[in-house]
Amino acid sequence: MMDNLSEIIILSSATIEEAIKKIDLNGKRGVFICEEDKNLVGIIMDSDIRRLSLKNINLQTSVKTIMKTTPFCIPEDISLKKKKQMLIDSDKVLAPIVNKHGCVVDYLWLDDILEDFRIFTKESIDNRILPSQKVLVIGGAGYIGSVLVDKLIRRGYVVRVLDILLYGKDSLQIMQNSNVEFIRGDCRDSDVIKQVLEGIDAVIHLGEIVGDPACDINESFTIETNFSATNMILEQCLKKNVKRLIFASSCSVYGQNNITVVEESTLNPVSLYARCKIESEKVILSYRCEHFCPTILRLATVHGRSFRQRFDLIVNLLTIKAIAEKKIQIFGGEQWRPFISVQDVCLGILSVLQANSVKVENKIFNLGDSRQNFQISQIASFIKRQVLDVEIENPDKISDNRNYNVSFDKIKQELGFTTEFTIEDTIEELTKAYSRDKLFQDYNDPKYYNVRSLK
Ligand SMILES: NC(=O)c1ccc[n+]([C@@H]2O[C@H](COP(=O)([O-])OP(=O)(O)OC[C@H]3O[C@@H](n4cnc5c(N)ncnc54)[C@H](O)[C@@H]3O)[C@@H](O)[C@H]2O)c1
Repeated sequence: MMDNLSEIIILSSATIEEAIKKIDLNGKRGVFICEEDKNLVGIIMDSDIRRLSLKNINLQTSVKTIMKTTPFCIPEDISLKKKKQMLIDSDKVLAPIVNKHGCVVDYLWLDDILEDFRIFTKESIDNRILPSQKVLVIGGAGYIGSVLVDKLIRRGYVVRVLDILLYGKDSLQIMQNSNVEFIRGDCRDSDVIKQVLEGIDAVIHLGEIVGDPACDINESFTIETNFSATNMILEQCLKKNVKRLIFASSCSVYGQNNITVVEESTLNPVSLYARCKIESEKVILSYRCEHFCPTILRLATVHGRSFRQRFDLIVNLLTIKAIAEKKIQIFGGEQWRPFISVQDVCLGILSVLQANSVKVENKIFNLGDSRQNFQISQIASFIKRQVLDVEIENPDKISDNRNYNVSFDKIKQELGFTTEFTIEDTIEELTKAYSRDKLFQDYNDPKYYNVRSLK
């Protein structure tokens, strides 16, 4: 459910091609066809378009030629519970919510009800951070943060975002929502933190200098941001009676490791970035308060599309180079690394937020999926398979020594978390965005690269 309906509504004067674009962007498998006043006249699902595309339909024809003119609708004036039940009982994954004049005022989407199933299958209902509660996302304008904020508001959370906007304002588009309050500020400043924690139930802390090279630019600034600020935020959370803190750590804490590592494995950091993570983890776990539930997530290397795009992450970088330059360079290639899509990272964070606190308090989880460990050379093969005519160069030089194969059994067993998206999905998504939607043609812009922006 959302405030900004324009993502899911298209005018009846639009073409099928415009409908496809909108469906690709909104990720909801469909669009509602409306008149100017949002009066609903039809619905198109991507399955309708796929079926018809086998018959070579002309994409420039009007959406009216293929839309379903008597769509399944949910009335506005019934309870949310009943609305969800209507969607569950129907064979639909997406339904408009309409007022008595037949105008679209909102919608229900599959995720809205699946999320409820997840909640109800847990053993107890205590201590969860559920929709309508207030969540602070520090670093919420960043690569992961912006996708997370979007997901939180779609699920009905009230969100406050604190971000200093180191990498521009691209992601501010999603903050234009009555359930989001955006505050531009520095999380190293305790006055700012005290102010933003007011009335907050849970904090998700993603506001750091991210990546080994970015952290090496100014070591003291990195330590202040990635360690001291985290410490201060934690203390303020305890004082302000915040119930939950989720801290984004990284699998790079495992550094160079030749065995499959689990949460208890010996850590072997090879960078300041990883060392700051380890120290922050220790501080967070050192507090044992009954009312406070901190959880540490060690994220695999992330890929995929975001409102604040990054092209300094290996899958994203190699893919965009392959598409735009038809040539990629692989340094070494034998190193193992775990991967996870940005969508799945956010789903993982949500599942921790909504889990009973006894399952997650004072715990560390690797966040990823054991099936998604790959050697860098395998990433190149995936790309070569999907982006045609790509030349792969293998210079005799290794710039990154990290090598770790990670087990994600704990999060699977204890929270039932597995990933939904693959590296192939990201390659496809970025290829479409670049080639069809003409996005990211400026992929060399420093705003997409943490190091280039900070220098
Ligand atoms: N992206 C990955 O592959 C990955 C992997 C493992 C862990 N992580 C962790 O996930 C978190 C988010 O990473 P990301 O990829 O979204 O990075 P990002 O650089 O896109 O986002 C970080 C955000 O924090 C903000 N920020 C930085 N310093 C701040 C300050 N002093 N005050 C307020 N805001 C500040 C930045 O403006 C930015 O919007 C980080 O903690 C990172 O270490 C990311």
